Amino acid sequence: MKLLARISVGGLLATLVVFVSHSVPARAGELSDGLPERLPYQALEKPELLPFLQDAKGPVAPFGAQVQVDGKTLTHAQARALLFSEEFAASIPPGTQVQVSKNSDGLEIWNYPTGTRVEHRIRWKTSEAPVFELRVIEKLPNGRWAFGMYTPEDEAPPSAAATGAPTAPKSSPLTPKKPDHDLVLNRYSGTPGQAFKLKPIGQPTEIQVNIRKLPLQHCQHCHFMHSPSGHQYETEDDAGPCGFAPANGENIRKGWAESWLKKFGTSPLK
Ligand code: HEC
Repeated sequence: MKLLARISVGGLLATLVVFVSHSVPARAGELSDGLPERLPYQALEKPELLPFLQDAKGPVAPFGAQVQVDGKTLTHAQARALLFSEEFAASIPPGTQVQVSKNSDGLEIWNYPTGTRVEHRIRWKTSEAPVFELRVIEKLPNGRWAFGMYTPEDEAPPSAAATGAPTAPKSSPLTPKKPDHDLVLNRYSGTPGQAFKLKPIGQPTEIQVNIRKLPLQHCQHCHFMHSPSGHQYETEDDAGPCGFAPANGENIRKGWAESWLKKFGTSPLK
């Protein structure tokens, strides 16, 4: 079965053909291999994960394959205004450096040390600001980039989930979380639907949000095809960070690298 999912990249709607059938590549699940299955919620507060800004004119990552409120499909900008806040953070093992060089076309290439970790944290815009998704990219000792999506444990779609009518997760983002609850690595296939009831800040009443989750096997594909720094990846299998990369170097050097130098006393880019 083929499903057409509209995903917005850089304000443009790119139509992606998503195969949700036996033709799902085996590597869909393997993309996350090497990442822990669970993370304590507090992992978000690790002191070495310093925030960076994305290029305001660059492409944007979709929140899902589709986001609907009260039956109406939202654009990325509408979903960001109403439902989600975003933060980006990165760390390298202290004492190491990202090696900066140029390729034969004179374009900057970053060679990231093993253990480089980049995060995209998406939170609901409700008073508690719980995590909707924590998306992670980490460079493993074998040189591969692992891609993973984490959600609060009661909100992960079952790994067998593929498509079908949106169903409510076991607990709602409105339920206060215990301080020690975990984030779990998602292992579903396809674009499962999830239904949430929420009261975003500034809204008078609860609204019904239906989301089709991103196909997990598209993480690396999109990062290869749409990153403004895609030139530094030879093949899709090599693709890693999108915004934590040369084309966004000005933001990384100004904000992130300066705070890193202050905190750890070494310059993180060489
Ligand atoms: C359709 C394209 C697309 C898909 C699919 C996608 N991303 Fe991204 N991602 C982006 C873009 C573009 C950015 C940077 C700009 C932004 O989000 O504002 C980004 C940023 C990130 C970042 C922040 C670090 C950085 O280099 O900017 C992480 C981490 C990340 N993505 C992980 C994931 C994971 C994990 C998945 C799969 C669950 C995923 N992404 C799916 C396009 C995509």
